[in-house]
Amino acid sequence: MVRKILDCHDSRSESRNDQSKRIVSGIRPTGKSHLGNYFGALQNWVELQKQNDCFFFIADWHALTTDYQNSSELSKNIEELVLDLLSCGLNPKKSTFFIQSHIKEHSELFLLLSMITPVGWLERNPTYKDQIQELSAKDITNLGFLGYPVLQAADILIYQGEAVPVGRDQLPYLEVCREIARRANHLYGNIFKEPQPILTQSPLIQGTDGRKMSKSYNNAIYLSDSEEDFKKKIITFITDPKRQRRTDPGDPKDCPAFQNFHKRFMNQEEQAEIYKGCTTASIGCVDCKTKLYHNIHPWIFPIREERKRLSKDRKSLYTVLEEGAQKARKIASKTMEIVRAAFHL
Ligand code: TRP
Ligand code: SF4
Repeated sequence: MVRKILDCHDSRSESRNDQSKRIVSGIRPTGKSHLGNYFGALQNWVELQKQNDCFFFIADWHALTTDYQNSSELSKNIEELVLDLLSCGLNPKKSTFFIQSHIKEHSELFLLLSMITPVGWLERNPTYKDQIQELSAKDITNLGFLGYPVLQAADILIYQGEAVPVGRDQLPYLEVCREIARRANHLYGNIFKEPQPILTQSPLIQGTDGRKMSKSYNNAIYLSDSEEDFKKKIITFITDPKRQRRTDPGDPKDCPAFQNFHKRFMNQEEQAEIYKGCTTASIGCVDCKTKLYHNIHPWIFPIREERKRLSKDRKSLYTVLEEGAQKARKIASKTMEIVRAAFHL
């Protein structure tokens, strides 16, 4: 889509209404995206860009805060994520799309904000404490990880973000950002906007085995899966455990396949039909999921094709990212002029 993206004219001024907001959000490059990522964040970004002035970036520095010991995959992961985002419809003509580490101003603002951030705010943060527990296999007692929310605050404040789409787990980090903004405004005059969260209602997407969809559980369906793998994963997706045999009736409400996918990809009429077929055992699970597969296909096929096309033209990808960085840098360097002056530098 790169060519299409570059050709299509900028519709920012015509189509955005008064409710248009400056939106900032980042995503860590942890590998190729699965459907859980899609319904959690990616889809949301694509929606938000229609009405808003969006700054979307790949938070590669944030990825390093926890994976500094094992960063050999980082540039590959960044590329995969760029491909996923663009093929899902992130439009770099509508949104400002870039890589965090390309804009060095984020790190300068991070440094200055760290002067006014009490360490206690960071140590007491519930998300920080959770992560230390959860990621116990990694040594994340480093300063970089403690400062994670300060870097995130810099990411947002440097673009004077008004709203930040985040998952529930990220709310404490956004609260730190708001506290830092208030403190800076109190100390140096009104230099920052206090950003509001946009809570993304992302219901948990389950993986093929019924657990939370996750790369580490080996149960994920990826946007980049081949047609064959994709089909196999849908057809073998876990169903109502009551249906041991073809003749056992089931209930879609206890069926992970139905709850995660039929509900999204089938209309009311089709869902009602399946409900009847499932509860009376007149339809088998394989037939039911084959039908599902045919309904998902028109959605996933263009994404997969676009991804293939973009991946053959890596040079264009970097052009897109460089153009995004230029747009972002313009705003970021203006903010930094104000901030330096406010700090009497
Ligand atoms: N911490 C976010 C996450 O893990 C990623 C992120 C980095 C971010 N900087 C941000 C999100 C700024 C919103 C705004 O998902
Ligand atoms: Fe799920 Fe369909 Fe099987 Fe019922 S018939 S358990 S809805 S896959």
